[in-house]
Amino acid sequence: MAGNAVGLGNFVRFPTQVAQNGGGAFMVPYFIALFFLGIPVMWIEWVAGRYGGKYGHGTLGPTYYLMARERVKPKSALWWGVISGMLAFSLTVLLNSYYLHLIGWSAAYSYFSATGAYFGQNTGEFFGNYLGNHAQVMLFWGITVILLAIAVGQGVSKGIERWVKVMMPLLYVFAIIMVGYVFVLGSPIDPNWSTIDGFRFIWSPNWAYLKDHFATVMLAATGQIFFTLSLGMGIIQNYASYLGPDDDVALSGLATVSLNEFAEVVLGGSLAVPLATAYAPKIVPPEVLAQGKNEALAWIGQKFGLGFSYTSLPNVFVSMGDIGKLFGAMWFLLLWFAGFTSAIAMYNYLTALLEEDLNIKRKVGTWVVLVLYFIAGLPVVYISGYLDQVDAWVSFQLTLLALFDIIVAVYLFKPDNFWKELHQGAYMKVPGWYKPILLYIAPILLLIPLIGSAQSLVGATLEWPARLAIIFMWIIGAVESYYSIKRKYSEEIEKNEII
Ligand code: PHE
Ligand code: NA
Repeated sequence: MAGNAVGLGNFVRFPTQVAQNGGGAFMVPYFIALFFLGIPVMWIEWVAGRYGGKYGHGTLGPTYYLMARERVKPKSALWWGVISGMLAFSLTVLLNSYYLHLIGWSAAYSYFSATGAYFGQNTGEFFGNYLGNHAQVMLFWGITVILLAIAVGQGVSKGIERWVKVMMPLLYVFAIIMVGYVFVLGSPIDPNWSTIDGFRFIWSPNWAYLKDHFATVMLAATGQIFFTLSLGMGIIQNYASYLGPDDDVALSGLATVSLNEFAEVVLGGSLAVPLATAYAPKIVPPEVLAQGKNEALAWIGQKFGLGFSYTSLPNVFVSMGDIGKLFGAMWFLLLWFAGFTSAIAMYNYLTALLEEDLNIKRKVGTWVVLVLYFIAGLPVVYISGYLDQVDAWVSFQLTLLALFDIIVAVYLFKPDNFWKELHQGAYMKVPGWYKPILLYIAPILLLIPLIGSAQSLVGATLEWPARLAIIFMWIIGAVESYYSIKRKYSEEIEKNEII
């Protein structure tokens, strides 16, 4: 689960969001979302996953059908299942359409570090040139996806687990060393621009900015919490479905959150943003630099989007001289691996879907998914702006599905059943005050950013290619989950009696 949660969300997406959303202004709703949404929704998804697993389901549609059926008639439960399954499917494909590219970028940068390709260059321009070379981008993407298909085709557990146990601790150790280095680096090129200013940017709350951009910053923070914890997508449920009925979920869920948040806030937060600050004079045009630190960071965040880390991190390896080539190659390889293990979780969801619902063999299914990924990934490379638009939409839809988590797996499943399930086999007792948080506070915290940002997001941010992709994935997802529920439960749905 930690290999699933810890990924490029921590080291690539988090710093980008921090830079784009006013630094300290972002961190306030971020921590609120962590405690009031991230932790409880993590529990919900572990509970729901283990519950679905008891009935042989690893995907969201049938699982949520069964949970909703506890309170409503099968015909209504069917629709709760269909919509949840639809959101989960479309999210998995949309998110992967660019997530796999981010992993490919890491592979490329591992290679560029080893060869010293970006040494002595403007790292902003270098990144732009890299993205412009489509053949190269597709090459590193292709290597990544084929390795993924092979890994998933052979079954997730054994081999991958062995690798995760070595590579994840290595990533933590390596990141801790890097953070120490960033701390003492100070001002490597200009005395007015130091890494410490970057820490200040994150850790001093910026109330004025938060007030002016309330709904967008809140959605960004909530979306990031779900993205980084792999929540709101059916992915945690899928992994939890492999558990036995008495395996702990309460403490394991909390441990997943803790491991991920350490890697995100402490490690991820101490690398790209401080480095971007220290090296801003090299990347940012002088007229923007003159406006101040916040403006400079926002400029990098806007200009490069999810490329934020790839433009700032390489500088630190350059500063190390020749040994930096080795360090850089290793760092980006570890990053690649962190992304890879997250991508496996998503890939596994789609193959499970094909396997359970359509009886397509795992070996065949992995190649079907590969083709789907290939098609979904093309607009990311060829339509400019598409990547960041889809990513903004992903934040929204993750938040929406988390709302469905609460409605279906708590309210319709009945809160008492949920609480009992949560403590079945648990290694810890969840404090009682998390009940009202789950029932009342969390839904409100989800609704505020959803309502507040829907209009500007759908009306202004999304352009037609992104809109069409979203609608298209919804249609496939809805048909698929309708079919998957119907084929197993059509009899009771026809009868439509409370069970
Ligand atoms: N949590 C992963 C990360 O931080 C991304 C992810 C999202 C993985 C959703 C699976 C499902 O990189
Ligand atoms: Na994460």
